[in-house]
Amino acid sequence: MQAIQQLGRYEIVSELGRGAMGTVFRARDPRINRVVAIKTIAFPSTDADLMREYRQRFYREAQAAGRLSHPGIVTIFDADEERASSTPFIVMEFVDGKPLDQFIAGEPEGRLDWHAAIGLLHQIAAALDYAHAHGIVHRDIKPANLLITSEGQVKIADFGIAKLSKVEATLPGYLMGTPAYMSPEQLNGQPVDGRSDLFSLGVIAYWLLTGHKPFTGQSITEVSIQVATKEPRAASQAAPGLSADFDQVLARALAKDPAQRYQSGKDFAADLQDVNAGRAPRSQAKTVVVPSSSEQTISMASREQRGKSPQRDFKKRWLFLATALLSLVLAAAGLVALSSSPSMPATLDIVGTYPFRSGQIYIWVDGELRYHDELRGASHTPAVTGNQFAPAGESIDLSIPVRAGRHTIRVQVDAPGNIFDHDTAIPGEFRAFSHKALQLDFRRRRLELNWE
Ligand SMILES: Nc1ncnc2c1ncn2[C@@H]1O[C@H](COP(=O)(O)OP(=O)(O)OP(=O)(O)O)[C@@H](O)[C@H]1O
Ligand SMILES: [Mg+2]
Repeated sequence: MQAIQQLGRYEIVSELGRGAMGTVFRARDPRINRVVAIKTIAFPSTDADLMREYRQRFYREAQAAGRLSHPGIVTIFDADEERASSTPFIVMEFVDGKPLDQFIAGEPEGRLDWHAAIGLLHQIAAALDYAHAHGIVHRDIKPANLLITSEGQVKIADFGIAKLSKVEATLPGYLMGTPAYMSPEQLNGQPVDGRSDLFSLGVIAYWLLTGHKPFTGQSITEVSIQVATKEPRAASQAAPGLSADFDQVLARALAKDPAQRYQSGKDFAADLQDVNAGRAPRSQAKTVVVPSSSEQTISMASREQRGKSPQRDFKKRWLFLATALLSLVLAAAGLVALSSSPSMPATLDIVGTYPFRSGQIYIWVDGELRYHDELRGASHTPAVTGNQFAPAGESIDLSIPVRAGRHTIRVQVDAPGNIFDHDTAIPGEFRAFSHKALQLDFRRRRLELNWE
């Protein structure tokens, strides 16, 4: 394929990288001789109505994000479409730097010292505060979207892009990105506000400060369950040497309930500044009934701790045991509630082997087109034995995130030359956090759908 030379009036210089939505290029705006970065957005070119809706959403999001002007946010200059291919693209400030994950990997021992980490977190919190005050939520705060310049300035990329995720879900080979940085309400499909971005920043803060990710797992489901239910280990335990003040800040940032979290980036930034200066975080002081000054309350608390009696210890241990038991019961009840909740995430796996050289596959969930891909790669023509198609092609193995509950899955597969053109639907019940596999069976020369 010939490399793209030009997008609109912009001259492509080189490719910077690829993500889930499209490709990012280094380019030049000849009109003012400025270096820019251009991100192309891959839209599925299938249904005219869907395309119209995506296009409208694309310009709406670009316009909203284009109103942001802040040193901590990648500025959007323009949004347009390449006429010949109808490829939409976003023109933005070129950042000479590295995404946070690569930046950290390049540090000695793959770690930042905590003063430096707090410096970065403080910048991100301040930039988020600005965007939220302008009514814009990012929705995909993760290390890959935080660019660090050589001067140590953080710039948040991809504002407004995550809102196009419905488009993302229909891209070839699409898999939902890691939920490790998403807030519980976002995973739950509930409306999100700026506090969801602050949760994501909390996940990054925990990782930067302790060297460990708070929510991990082998699968999307495992990570999602952790985000929804797990209280991460206290930061000072995860990284001995960190003061307990970090525990307070991170616990608040990672609260499951948005009402218990930092309500603004400014509050988060202020607490980070306090901890950096060796002070107790100011939000902690606010939650204590303060008789005269916050310093006094804190010193009173520590004096009390030193003077604790064995009797108090005993009582405390019982209290701890009772609380632990109660939380176990609550966690069990919570899991039962979660597994029957219709808005929790689940995964539809599609598996099968197609017996032809090339074709198209379309998958709808409840009438919404969620996946479209070109099937390619069978090494030979279909081997037909009697009325049976031998599965001689390549295999299909993909996952589509859905919500728990009952859905109708419709699959259409067509191969050129009328070899094959079938459209079939099947209903299915999805339990929260479960994978349900749909087997595409082509053996009888038609498409049959069966739950595994
Ligand atoms: N404004 C920019 N200036 C310079 N490089 C950029 C800019 N925006 C993105 N990049 C680089 O382009 C590459 C691809 O970015 P892209 O956003 O497509 O992928 P991603 O962030 O890894 O994943 P996702 O698609 O989930 O956002 C990344 O390596 C990123 O560092
Ligand atoms: Mg990105």
